[in-house]
Amino acid sequence: MHNTRMKSRSNPNEMPARHTVPLADALARPLQDLRISLLDQCNFRCPYCMPEAKFHSEYEFLKRQQRLTYDEIIKVAAAASSLGVSKIRLTGGEPLLDKNICELIERIVTLPGVEDLAMTTNGMLLKSFADRLVAAGLHRVTVSLDSIDKDIFRNMSGGRGDLDQVLEGLKAAGDAGLGPIKINVVVQKGVNDHTILELLEHFRGTGTIVRLIEFMDVGNRNGWQMNQVVPSRELLEQIQKRWPLRAVGKNYPGEVARRYEYVDGAGEIGFISSVTEPFCGDCSRARLSADGMLYTCLFANQGTDLRESLRKGADDDEMQGILSSIWLQRADRYSELRHPDLAEHHVLKKVEMYRIGG
Ligand code: GTP
Ligand code: 5AD
Ligand code: SF4
Ligand code: SF4
Repeated sequence: MHNTRMKSRSNPNEMPARHTVPLADALARPLQDLRISLLDQCNFRCPYCMPEAKFHSEYEFLKRQQRLTYDEIIKVAAAASSLGVSKIRLTGGEPLLDKNICELIERIVTLPGVEDLAMTTNGMLLKSFADRLVAAGLHRVTVSLDSIDKDIFRNMSGGRGDLDQVLEGLKAAGDAGLGPIKINVVVQKGVNDHTILELLEHFRGTGTIVRLIEFMDVGNRNGWQMNQVVPSRELLEQIQKRWPLRAVGKNYPGEVARRYEYVDGAGEIGFISSVTEPFCGDCSRARLSADGMLYTCLFANQGTDLRESLRKGADDDEMQGILSSIWLQRADRYSELRHPDLAEHHVLKKVEMYRIGG
């Protein structure tokens, strides 16, 4: 796998022992990937995630004491790694709004079994952070960037994003060695779909991997409609007419992106097609919100409150037990069961994306 690096252990004796028998959920899927949301705040207001009308200046985000401390996060991450998690992703909201994030990174990379430590960011603060993130031990970054057209980009960030600043952040991340760098593009019909070829052209030949994501019905606030989704298959046909592509295999079991490479050698792109081609069958991801709720699906309507257990004094063994019992019962497969009519009417209550970071 190209994007995984082994890290040495600095203090293995303090961590729970790794299980020898892999933990599997009710549908025989292992637990491999933990996504940790550090805070629910963001410096963008993407209309599909945190629309300004709802997330205004009076909106009450989590208070410091409601958020997990680094010690608490490490306790959960250590238990997860002992149960088989080898990939950890830091998300938000916007994780770089947490000024002390490097201290946490330093601690996570030393956990036994953590082979891949990545971050999803909107890139606005990346330039000033890049060198420190590498020094702390972060392996790579994925940057959300929905258009290479300045005005469309700005609109899609709720009027807050500056394309040049994000591009400078990407360059700084590349120079610092935070690769392979990936770009997440949420494609919405009539909003940015007409700018996708231009975006691909910009990144062709740079080593940056663009991933085109079908707009999803996450949460209850983004007004999702099926007619706003551009099926990946249509995009693929459109791209193929300009630059022939060939399919390439997965980097690792459970990878969500379907990978392609340009036949002319200009690099790789990916399609994340949760709406038209769901990939629940090998979904191995758990998500921890900033206030300590553990969710076993991006579309979950309920999670498990780990903060309460942590603050009642759960030790490493207990945390391991809590996580393994949650995973053993897990049977989520929302995207496979999704019914567009129900999704459009937002009948099911679902966790909001800004709380679990994608
Ligand atoms: P790599 O480790 O680089 O392969 O990244 P990744 O594809 O695991 O992670 P990333 O968080 O960049 O995923 C990109 C986007 O895919 C997310 O922002 C979500 O929109 C979507 N996505 C990721 N995981 C899931 C999932 O489990 N279910 C669904 N439905 N969508 C997902
Ligand atoms: N559909 C698909 N992807 C989404 N993201 C946020 N909301 C949605 C949605 N409704 C993506 C963002 C970012 C990641 C955190 O999740 O683009 O890359
Ligand atoms: Fe912020 Fe990302 Fe949500 Fe946009 S999609 S508002 S950048 S958390
Ligand atoms: Fe996993 Fe839920 Fe996404 Fe399916 S819908 S891939 S179970 S997170």
